[in-house]
Amino acid sequence: MKKNIIVMILLLMFSQVFLAENNENTYFDTNLTVEERVNDLLSRMTLREKIGQLDQYLGTAYKRKRGNDSAATKTEELIKKGYIGSLLIVSTAKEANELQRLAESSRLKIPLLIAQDAIHGHALYYGATVFPTAVGIASTGNLELAKKAAEITAKELRATGYQWTFSPNVDVTRDPRWGRTGETFGEDPFLVGEMGKAFVIGYQGDDISQPNRVLSCIKHFVAGGQPIDGKNFAPMDVSKRTLHEIFFPPFKKAVDAGAWTLMAAHNEVNGIPCHASEYLLTDILRNEWDFKGFVVSDWHDIEALYRIHYVADGMKDATKQALLAGVDMHMYGEGFAKPAVELVEEGAIPISLIDAKVKLILETKFRLGLFENRYVDLDEIENVIASKEHREVALQIARESIVLLKNENQLLPIKSDTKKIFLTGPNATGNAILGDWTWKQPEENVFTVVKGLQENLPENMELNYFDCGNIYSITDSSIALAVKEAEQSDIALVVVGGNNFRDGAPDRTGGENWARSDIKLYGKQIELVQAIEKTGTPTVVILINGRPLAIPWIAENIPSILETWEPGMEGGKAIADVLFGEYNPSGKLPFSIPRSVGQLQYWYNYKPSREARDYKFGETGPLYDFGHGLSYTTFEYSNLTFTDKVSAGDDVKVKITIKNTGSYSGDEIVQIYLNDEVSSVTTPVRKLVAFQKISLEPNEEKIVTLTIPSIQLALYNREMKQVIEPGVFKVMAGGLIDKFEVVE
Ligand code: GLC
Repeated sequence: MKKNIIVMILLLMFSQVFLAENNENTYFDTNLTVEERVNDLLSRMTLREKIGQLDQYLGTAYKRKRGNDSAATKTEELIKKGYIGSLLIVSTAKEANELQRLAESSRLKIPLLIAQDAIHGHALYYGATVFPTAVGIASTGNLELAKKAAEITAKELRATGYQWTFSPNVDVTRDPRWGRTGETFGEDPFLVGEMGKAFVIGYQGDDISQPNRVLSCIKHFVAGGQPIDGKNFAPMDVSKRTLHEIFFPPFKKAVDAGAWTLMAAHNEVNGIPCHASEYLLTDILRNEWDFKGFVVSDWHDIEALYRIHYVADGMKDATKQALLAGVDMHMYGEGFAKPAVELVEEGAIPISLIDAKVKLILETKFRLGLFENRYVDLDEIENVIASKEHREVALQIARESIVLLKNENQLLPIKSDTKKIFLTGPNATGNAILGDWTWKQPEENVFTVVKGLQENLPENMELNYFDCGNIYSITDSSIALAVKEAEQSDIALVVVGGNNFRDGAPDRTGGENWARSDIKLYGKQIELVQAIEKTGTPTVVILINGRPLAIPWIAENIPSILETWEPGMEGGKAIADVLFGEYNPSGKLPFSIPRSVGQLQYWYNYKPSREARDYKFGETGPLYDFGHGLSYTTFEYSNLTFTDKVSAGDDVKVKITIKNTGSYSGDEIVQIYLNDEVSSVTTPVRKLVAFQKISLEPNEEKIVTLTIPSIQLALYNREMKQVIEPGVFKVMAGGLIDKFEVVE
């Protein structure tokens, strides 16, 4: 009996090999439909080859750079066997081509899907465009620019041999202690969702088979942005209501926009790790939202089921839980394939489930055109990455990302009769300006604040820069030296904040796994600012940071404050443009800025009972509110109008007039907030439901029409059904308030 089975298996394998080499009607035939090609290829694959398509490994150069030659060689062997479907952290286009060539030497010649964390530009790639980080892009309120940034990122990825980016991060962040705060679009579900959708469309266009398109990857599903203690991976204990009201909407919006892939989150939600959550990855994602793409694990998060969460007794148990819950691809490396094959052979995982997952991967590769075109032209790259056009977009986003928090007595823009400008602060130079998910870039590509000011200094002005050391190394003596220089100057600019720059920065204070238990300025930065302010020289504080920072003393005592977040490779130029009035700041905060870590967890769209009591000591409200941002000009809002009776299910069109009543031309992000006055369950005191950016010359007036999507009037009732209840809704915009009624 056993002999017959062996003979049968051998015959089957031989026939598959024979067919693959001899049947002209192969899956390489572009006249076949994608479905026919997928089915034809799948029919030729062994189980081990199928599992290989669900497995992702690290690039070999990355391993060799870390002295792991044997692992790199092993990876190359597996690629040649057709046992690896995807790679991440491939270092160069040359390496991408070489590894694709190994895949082409395999029996079935299935191309590799090569992925990268290109979160704010192709910023891990040497010489590519580095945009402002997500928190800055969100501050622009400019969805067109957000989409453009994603399009450029996709173009630079494809030019260098990558077809998939692990972006956009559509986590809603509700705790700035979290190291990844700057990697997200903020604390508001509507803003995060709109920005995430713009990125998905920018990356993918309306067809991923078009040139210069890449797969998006919405992450991290779900709710890593409100960890119980601010730390990455920490448990999320949020109600189903909060999941549906806050954390799900940006993912749902991105799924509806056609997001091709999704990454599960490291954390557990209410006792169940996301990577083992059938509720999240099947019930919600596939059955309720009809997600058609594929799910990739996060970094060793199948392994985390037994290493960190202890819900599995080993890799085989973890693999089984993850595959059955809805994970399709393993990130990364050894340890997944063997148990996965065994689970199928033992019948614990049906081959039909594996086939369904493999088909998703194969379809993706066919649609990306990888079977026809898997290599890139190395000579073409330098014409694409960080091109003049791409850098101009990076500069414009950086300009529009800057938030003017305070500007007493119009100290800014710097007056034209100013003679001596003093510049210091740890972030006036270095790579904090680039933010997380950025590796070292050519120095000539990075506009630090020093460089930006030096190269854009008005003729009659003199710039005196003093290097006071980095965030960790400011000393009393360097402060004393800075004071001496400040005393001799007409204005002092102090650049402080944090440093999320990924590439081994010696003074890193934030980024992926760098949460903080405090959100003050680290080190002696505040002492530096206080000493300079004490000289009596008018002082401007410029913040470069990847999270909201509690700066109560600065808010109280410094006349002008710019929050520039992490403005990217052109950041220094953008900051110079704002300081000298070449660009009138228009950014709005995508985060509330708390007065202290003790106010956490705080968010602007809180439920009414939060206002029932105050603290015994100190203010209850934040230092700066979500949506705050000043301009060098002033805008007057009037004529807020909309229909006073709305039928449930109708969108609400809102008209409002804005006039530039100042002397500077400027951009303004018109924001519409909504409050459901009386509801069957508690609803936020206000929530952002629409926004639009406009430009106005001095004295120019515009009537702007915005639409409140009907879904924004809905709530999850006591039975957790999403409904629109009749009743009165308050609309708030530019200080104006009016109401409409939803009638049955
Ligand atoms: C990390 C991050 C995820 C990233 C992945 C690959 O753990 O959580 O955002 O895409 O690994 O680098």
